[in-house]
Amino acid sequence: MADLIPAPVAVRQSPEGAVRLDAAATVHAAPGTEDTARWLRGALGAAFGLPLDPAARAEEATVRLSLDESLAAEAYRLDIGPDEAVHLTGGGPAGVFWGAQTLRQLLGAEAFRSAPVAAAEAVLAYQRIEDAPRFGWRGMMLDVARHFMPKNDVLRYLDLLAAHKLNVFHFHLTDDQGWRIEIKRHPRLTEVGSWRPRSKWGHRASELWNDTPHGGYYTQDDIREIVAYAHARHITVVPEIDIPGHSQAAISAYPELGNTDVVDTSALGVWDTWGINPNILAPTDGVLRFYEEVFEEVLALFPSQFVHIGGDEAPKDQWKQSPTAQARIKELGLADEDELQSWFIRHFDTWLAERGRRLIGWDEILEGGLAPGAAVSSWRGYRGGIAAAKSGHDVVMCPEQQVYLDHRQHGGPDEPMPIGYVRTLEDVYRFEPVPPELSAEEARHVLGTQANVWTEVMENRRRVDYQVFPRLAAFAEVAWSALPAPAERDFAAFASRMTEHYARLDALGVDYRPPAGPRPDQQRPGVIGRPIEGAPPNV
Ligand code: ACM
Repeated sequence: MADLIPAPVAVRQSPEGAVRLDAAATVHAAPGTEDTARWLRGALGAAFGLPLDPAARAEEATVRLSLDESLAAEAYRLDIGPDEAVHLTGGGPAGVFWGAQTLRQLLGAEAFRSAPVAAAEAVLAYQRIEDAPRFGWRGMMLDVARHFMPKNDVLRYLDLLAAHKLNVFHFHLTDDQGWRIEIKRHPRLTEVGSWRPRSKWGHRASELWNDTPHGGYYTQDDIREIVAYAHARHITVVPEIDIPGHSQAAISAYPELGNTDVVDTSALGVWDTWGINPNILAPTDGVLRFYEEVFEEVLALFPSQFVHIGGDEAPKDQWKQSPTAQARIKELGLADEDELQSWFIRHFDTWLAERGRRLIGWDEILEGGLAPGAAVSSWRGYRGGIAAAKSGHDVVMCPEQQVYLDHRQHGGPDEPMPIGYVRTLEDVYRFEPVPPELSAEEARHVLGTQANVWTEVMENRRRVDYQVFPRLAAFAEVAWSALPAPAERDFAAFASRMTEHYARLDALGVDYRPPAGPRPDQQRPGVIGRPIEGAPPNV
C-alpha cells in the first residue's frame, strides 16, 4: 500500500491486480466534477506525459469522477477494481478533489513531478478507500507582511496545501513591516507601505541588519488570480487586514491613521524590526471610514465568508495618552481602553455582518467583550478558544505552543535563526485541536485548526519551506485523519510513512528540514534567535 498522508479512514485491499493509466486512458467527469478532471489532466498528465482525454460516456472511461450525495461534502470513495476502471466518487466537488489527491499519492512519488522521467509508469493497485476529514477548517496562515512572498510562490503553496488536503489559506496581508495588497482608493498603502529600507536580521535583540530594501505587494489582479487558483483547488483564502494594532505600515503611508495627538506619525516609516509595536490606529470616525473603504475592496476580491481583522497585540499606551481616544471612551460610555478596542472590533463585526460576512480575529478580541457572531483564532494557547467555545463562538485552534511553525523544530545549535519553543515533527503529530475542557456540544464550535507561519526569520521561500516541512505533513494528518488521543498516536508508523512522503516532497522541490538535520546551507548563520527559558542565549 502506498503510504498515504494524511491517513485515510479505511483502505481495503482487493484481489491482485492493477489498473494502468496509459496513453489510451480517459477521464469522464460527471456534472460538478469538471474542476477535478482539469486538475488531474494538468497534474498527472504532466507527470506521466499522458493526454488523459475526456471520455464521452462514463462506462468507457478509465477514470470516472462522480458525485454521491449520500456522502458528506468533503468525503470521497476511491474504488480501483477489476473492471479496469478507477471510480472516484465524492459527496461534493471538494470530496472528488481530495480523492484525486489520494489518487496521485497512490501513483508514487513520480506523480509529483512536472514532467515524466524515463521509468515512470502510472499503475494503480486494486483497492477501495473510504475517507472523510475530521475538521472542516484545515488551514495554514502565511505571513507575507514580514517577508513578501512573490505571487508564483504563493500559488506553489496553494498546490502544497492541496496535496495535504488542507482547505484554508489564511493570508496575513498587512502588518507593521509591510502592506501587501493594492487598495485602489488608497494607493499610498502600497506605494509607501509596501517597502522598508532594511530589515532586522534575526531576533529583534540581534545587532545585525539586512541592508537590502525589502518589499513587494499583490495587485488586485494578482489577488484575483490567487483566489481563483485556490478556488480551483477547493481552498478558501481568508484575507487578514490587521486592526487596530500591527498597523505601522499603513500609518507610515497615511499619518492621519495614527494617534497624531500623541506621536508625530508623519515621522514614522515602515517598521524595520520585529516585536510588538506601540503605533496603533486612532479610534476616530475618519479611521473607521478609511478601513471600511479598504474592506470594501477586500470583500470585492475575496468571496470567503470569514474575513480576519487581526485584533492581536494592540498596546493601549497611546490610547491612554490620547485626548481624542479618551474623549471617545467618555462619549461612548466605555470603561477603559480594552472596551474601546472591543468597540472598534464590533464596528467591523456589524459592518461585515451587514454584508453577509463573518468576522474572525485573534483571541485578544475576547478582551472587553466578544462581538456577537465573531469567531476566534485561538493563538495564545487553548484558553481563548475554550472561553470562546463555551460562550457559543466558533473557534479555530492554532495555539502558538503547538502549531507556530516559525518555532524551531529541533534543539540543536545548527537550526537556522532559532526562535521559540522546540516543536518537533512528533510534537506536531501529537497536537490535539480539541481540548478536554470542552464538552461534546462545546467542541462543535471548534471549526478546525490551522498552522501559523510567521516570517520574521524567513526571508525567502526556501526558509519558509524549511520551517513548514515536514511538520505540515504531521499537521495535515491531525487536521484530516481521525487520530486517537495524543499519547496513543502511532508516531513510529507515521514516521515510516514519511519515507515515501519525503520522496513526494523531493519531487515537488520542497526544501524541507531533512530528518538528519539541516544541510550546510540551511544552518544558522550565527544569528541570534529568540531565547527559550533556561537555554543559552543563542539556542
Ligand atoms: C499572533 O501571533 N500575534 C497572532
